[in-house]
Amino acid sequence: MSNQTPSQQWNAQHYDQQINFVSELGKGVVTLLNPQPGERILDLGCGTGDLAKEISRSGAACVGFDYSQEMFDQAKVKYPEIPFRQEDGEAFRLQPGEQPFDAVFSNAALHWMKHPERVVEAVWLALKPGGRFVAEFGGAGNVQTIVEAICREVEAYGIDWRARYPWYFPTIGEYASILERQGFQVAYAQLYDRPTRLSDGEKGMHHWLKAFAGVFLEGLSPQQQEQALARSIQAMRPALYNGEYWEADYRRIRVYAVKPA
Ligand code: BEZ
Repeated sequence: MSNQTPSQQWNAQHYDQQINFVSELGKGVVTLLNPQPGERILDLGCGTGDLAKEISRSGAACVGFDYSQEMFDQAKVKYPEIPFRQEDGEAFRLQPGEQPFDAVFSNAALHWMKHPERVVEAVWLALKPGGRFVAEFGGAGNVQTIVEAICREVEAYGIDWRARYPWYFPTIGEYASILERQGFQVAYAQLYDRPTRLSDGEKGMHHWLKAFAGVFLEGLSPQQQEQALARSIQAMRPALYNGEYWEADYRRIRVYAVKPA
């Protein structure tokens, strides 16, 4: 096993084929954003660009940022008409001479950024006075059944899953406080359960774990990995499989915050 902490590896094609509900379910957040013609909008953590495209359909000029080379490459191929940049969500800044944004939007991305104060500062600096920050991501308790099952299995192989834990799932209180400390006015915040149907029937949870839980499996042999996956899937089956499809126990935090004019 290497000493380096493993990190999430993105496979943009697998993401588009097996995890395509992410953009579909994100359309509700675009409705909350309510993009207007002529507005300049940043999609932070845009993945392969589907929601940046959706935002552009309103007549707004949308720019997409993603840190992953894989996602960035795929987004540019899918939507060559949209400007994408490979940027770190915890450290990005407007480029010299660049106009600030009317809005920053983010769907299913902020839980991958473990320094939320830095993200919120970067968003603040990118917005015009009066600009809005509209985001949805995993909140406290998100995918808890799944994570508990896989962590229990890898622990049996001596893996310190806490050191590898890649997500930030805050409560409303925690996140609204970070926004307010930065100066935002939090107009709206909600934490809600959003059980999420996975595609491909019986195989759905295996696809999900392959896409997102690889970080916990690194260092195990291929055989050990498959065994840990099979056992954790068995453990979560009574709670999340209904005989036809898997429903992941997603819980979202949704926020709408304004930078005062
Ligand atoms: C989410 O969208 O909530 C999520 C996706 C992958 C891993 C963990 C959470």
